[in-house]
Amino acid sequence: MRTKHWHVDNSVDVLDTYPQIEEAAELLKQDEVVAFPTETVYGLGGNALSDQAAAKIFAAKGRPADNPLIVHIASKQQVADIAANISQTAERLMEAFWPGPLTVILEKQPNRLSQLVTAGLETVAVRMPDHPVALAVIHKCGLPIAAPSANRSGKPSPTSARHVQDDLDGVIAGIIDGGDTGVGVESTVVDCTGSIPVILRPGGITKEDIEAVVGEAAIDAALTDMNQQPKSPGMKYKHYAPEAPVYLLNGSRSWVQSRINEQRQEGKKVGLLTTEENLSFYEADVILPCGRRDDLRTVAHSLYEVLRAFNETDVDIIYSETFPTDGVGLAIMNRLEKAAAHRWLHEKRK
Ligand code: TXA
Ligand code: MG
Repeated sequence: MRTKHWHVDNSVDVLDTYPQIEEAAELLKQDEVVAFPTETVYGLGGNALSDQAAAKIFAAKGRPADNPLIVHIASKQQVADIAANISQTAERLMEAFWPGPLTVILEKQPNRLSQLVTAGLETVAVRMPDHPVALAVIHKCGLPIAAPSANRSGKPSPTSARHVQDDLDGVIAGIIDGGDTGVGVESTVVDCTGSIPVILRPGGITKEDIEAVVGEAAIDAALTDMNQQPKSPGMKYKHYAPEAPVYLLNGSRSWVQSRINEQRQEGKKVGLLTTEENLSFYEADVILPCGRRDDLRTVAHSLYEVLRAFNETDVDIIYSETFPTDGVGLAIMNRLEKAAAHRWLHEKRK
């Protein structure tokens, strides 16, 4: 398949009249799949009402069939078409955070969505993205759009059109390039089917943000305890991994440097994921800064770009700094833990 490439300038607010948007929307109506930017990561969109379109998404990504997709909408009125029995809590969260990086799990409307999209579950994940290109495409085609991250399964999610192209060129109908994404990690997924909302996947909207609106929120136990079975099917898979093994390091700068030296003495090329503040303190074969520790949003923004960038180097092993898990730090550490398959090295304290 020849993949179409479109470029749009997302600062213009006449997106509806872009012929590129029209063309992409037309392909979506024909059950083709198209990648577009959102404020979190690039999504691979397809008609959520069509088995044929959903099957194309799973095939292009190499995604396991038991991992359901998020359905994207462009207006709040669309929620009632796909979800039922929406709770007060869910209403308040949608009101507070949409459009934005919050996905809510709701009871689904029977017989509307493709069964493939919901992986046979009775619930549906719904999100209204805060990105002019995503909103214009969804609005133009008038359909609920299933859109997982536009990467091959297991790779870091794409934060630029270039990443999408690296993974999916030749297997999807089109890619809309609308520049780099903002948040950089996927949306926060919140189960709103119970009495209090439960965070199944941490993201740009934090537990603290949610509690400020609805008073109380919980975190799925599987996010902090590896022995628990996650409630969100996708969370059990290894994800976000570069090719070289990643290790999470917890210790002083001098201890980190000696770990690096040890590996290099054994003839290994060592990559280091660090931050602007620490950049000048280290010596390794490849050192990549990933944002600033004093603003964890900058770390989230650059994380996938940096993990992907290591694949363009010849490092044998990647060491990574670690971060506190409050605020957006929880989302960062969740993704890093997966990239590292939970491999940690701790400095022994005297
Ligand atoms: O930021 C995002 O959410 C991006 C952009 C493209 O919008 N999309 C995204 O989709 O990350 P995906 O498919 O890569 O992740 C969907 C997550 C998975 O962890 C999946 O298991 C969970 O949402 N999910 C979907 N439907 C669910 C449901 N009914 N119950 C529980 N979890 C669900
Ligand atoms: Mg994904």
